[in-house]
Parts: sequence; structure tokens; C-alpha cells
Amino acid sequence: MQIGIPAETIVGENRIAATPETVKKWIGAGHTVVIERNAGVKAAYINSAFEQVGAKIVDDAYAGSQIILKVRAPKGDEIQKLAANTTVVAMFDPYRNTELDQFAEKQISAFALELLPRTLSRAQNMDVLSSQANLSGYKSVLLAATEYQRMFPMLMTAAGTVKPARVVIMGVGVAGLQAIATAKRLGAVVEATDLRPTAKDQVESLGGKWLDVPMSEEEQQKAADAAKNGYGWMPGEEYIRDQAAIVDKAVSNADIVITTALLPGRDAPRLIKAETVAKMKPGSVILDMAVETGGNVEGSVCGETVVTENGVKILGIPNIPSTVATEASALYARNVFNFVETLFDAEKNFSINQEDEIQKALLIAHNGSLLFKRG
Ligand code: NAI
Repeated sequence: MQIGIPAETIVGENRIAATPETVKKWIGAGHTVVIERNAGVKAAYINSAFEQVGAKIVDDAYAGSQIILKVRAPKGDEIQKLAANTTVVAMFDPYRNTELDQFAEKQISAFALELLPRTLSRAQNMDVLSSQANLSGYKSVLLAATEYQRMFPMLMTAAGTVKPARVVIMGVGVAGLQAIATAKRLGAVVEATDLRPTAKDQVESLGGKWLDVPMSEEEQQKAADAAKNGYGWMPGEEYIRDQAAIVDKAVSNADIVITTALLPGRDAPRLIKAETVAKMKPGSVILDMAVETGGNVEGSVCGETVVTENGVKILGIPNIPSTVATEASALYARNVFNFVETLFDAEKNFSINQEDEIQKALLIAHNGSLLFKRG
């Protein structure tokens, strides 16, 4: 089959859905791979590197391709370039994407990688949310450290002692855990919290302090149910109130705050109020990793650095994986490869199998029908 890798069109998207490593595997399996000219340049995968493994560099990777691999779902004009019966594998942002019905209308088979059933162990090597969040967690700490005008580690110098930075991490999933590990490596004192009580042991094993929010029996049950899917849950008013008081105290004393809390299909929970930010020391830095889905921090603005009256910088950096595009593309491309391999049967024939748990979960449009239903 012909596999097409178009360039990404969203401003600031530097990643690419295939690398010379994965292209070599596609070609080894007998496929033709066409890469849009310069599609990988921003991620440091140059045209000649793809040509060396046998790919063709073209001006239009949509033309003649039966499978299209992308980072972000095709939009607008890109959708018009898709021929009927093309299979598209990408991150479709299905809960917010308003163009999904067009894929059904155009008879496209669309697979949204974000919908992966994460707790299936055979799906782990296809999990783009984890692979990208891991990198975001690391980079978020470096971005915050660069804006912070003091040091992370404690230093004993002839000119006096430098105090270690106090870092608070809100939301300790894949990104939050990597943020804790990175902040600890830089020498900071770290505190963290999450809706999922199971995160406590993970925080402590990385040397962080767990900020405990008491939970009712009902909440413990909700948390246990949600844990089966590997996600958080919708807390009730009492939990939100208790959490706000604990967060207020920890964040008021923090030098750096990184927020990573997300709930799939919903706006990000608002965890830090403006009145808490107003209590922070001048020079403190907050990085709101949820800024693209409404933000965890009151006052954060997507794409901007807001400096509050009391001298706190709130960084609203979108798409952090794209700032480590080479590595992010390498991991993403492997996730994509591992998933697309499942679309070929034992005889190496392409076949979409709706009995397959993973394919079924990801397939949002097929045979003219929109299969994805919002909430
Ligand atoms: P995420 O990116 O959806 O959310 C990040 C974190 O924010 C989560 O830990 C969530 O509990 C937390 N959060 C949401 N609302 C919150 C609130 N109001 N207050 C405090 N925290 C809040 O989650 P992510 O990182 O994608 O994964 C969540 C969990 O799933 C992790 O423990 C991860 O290790 C697990 N997972 C398990 C897999 C498996 O079993 N194979 C595969 C992938 C992830």
C-alpha cells in the first residue's frame, strides 16, 4: 500500500508522524512511503534521511496514498484532499473536533489515537498520550526553571547559602510523575497531589511529599472505579473545597508550580484560584500544562506569559511535546507504527477488524458512519 506522510499545518506543530526508523520498517514490509517535502525538517528529520531508507519525497503526500499518518487530524482543505476509502491515523482531538462528520461523509476510515484503551497491556506501545505527556512533564520543568530567576538546588557557597526551590506539581499522571522526577534531579523540594490515591506511593518513591486531600467512602469508590480506566474522576464539592484549602497553602509557599490535571472529554479542572496566585512570592513561576483545554490556573492564557501584579509569571505554553519535536516524533511514530501494524492480518492484507478491541475503540468514522459519540 502507499502510506502518505503530509506536513503538519497547525502553527507551532513541529512533529511528524513517521521517522526514518519507522519508514524503513514500512518499506521492509513491502509498502511504498511518500513524505511531503520538508515535512520532517522542524523535527530534524531531513528529506535525505527519508530518501536514504527508500521513501519518496513528494509535493502532495495525499495523492495516491491509501493510508495517511499524521500528528494532528487533517483540517479544512486537508480533508478535501483525502480520497474516499483512505485510512487516516492521527490525534483527532475527538471531543473538541467540529469536523469529524466530514470524515464520515467522505467515506474515510479515521482512527483517533487518543481513544486507546490504556489499561490493555498490548496497547501500551501505542499510547500516544503517555509517550507525549512523559516528554511534556520533563520539558515543563526546564521551561519553568528557565523563567525562574533563582536556583533549583541548594548551594553552600562562600557568598552564602542558596535555598532549594519549592516545587508543587498538581496532577500526577504520566506528565506529573516525570515533572517530579525532573525537578528532584535538579535539586528541588517537591510536593504533589492528585485525585487518584494510588499516585501517593509513586510520588513518595520519587522523593516527593504527598499533599493529602481527605476522601469520603463514596469518593474512594469513584476513584477506584476511575482507576480501572487509568483516569481521574469528577470530584464532589466537599473534595474540591478541601483540595482548594490544601492547594492554597502549598502553592502560596511555592516557587514553581506545574499543573497537569486533565479529564478526558471535559474542560480541565480549575485548581488554582487567582486569590492563591496573589499570595505567591514575586518571582514565582506557574506553568499551566492544561492551558489548551481551559487551564488549571485562573488567569493563564494560551500562548502567553502573564505577569501578575504581585510578580508571578504564569506560563501558558501550548503543545509542549512540539518543543522536543525530534524525540516526540520518534516516540509518536513508533506508537503509530505499532498501531497500524494491527491493521494488517496474518496474510499481511489490510483489513479493519471491528472485533479487535483496540481498533474498535479508535475507529471514529468508517463506511460513511460517524462512530464517535461525544459524552
Ligand atoms: P491525564 O493526563 O488525563 O491527567 C493527569 C492527571 O491529572 C491524572 O493523574 C488525573 O488523576 C489528574 N487530575 C484530574 N483532575 C484532577 C483534579 N481535579 N485534581 C487533581 N488531579 C486531577 O492522565 P494521564 O497522565 O494520561 O494518566 C493517568 C493515569 O493513568 C496515570 O496513573 C497513568 O500511569 C495511568 N496509565 C495507565 C496505563 C496502563 O495501565 N497501561 C497507561 C497509561 C496511563
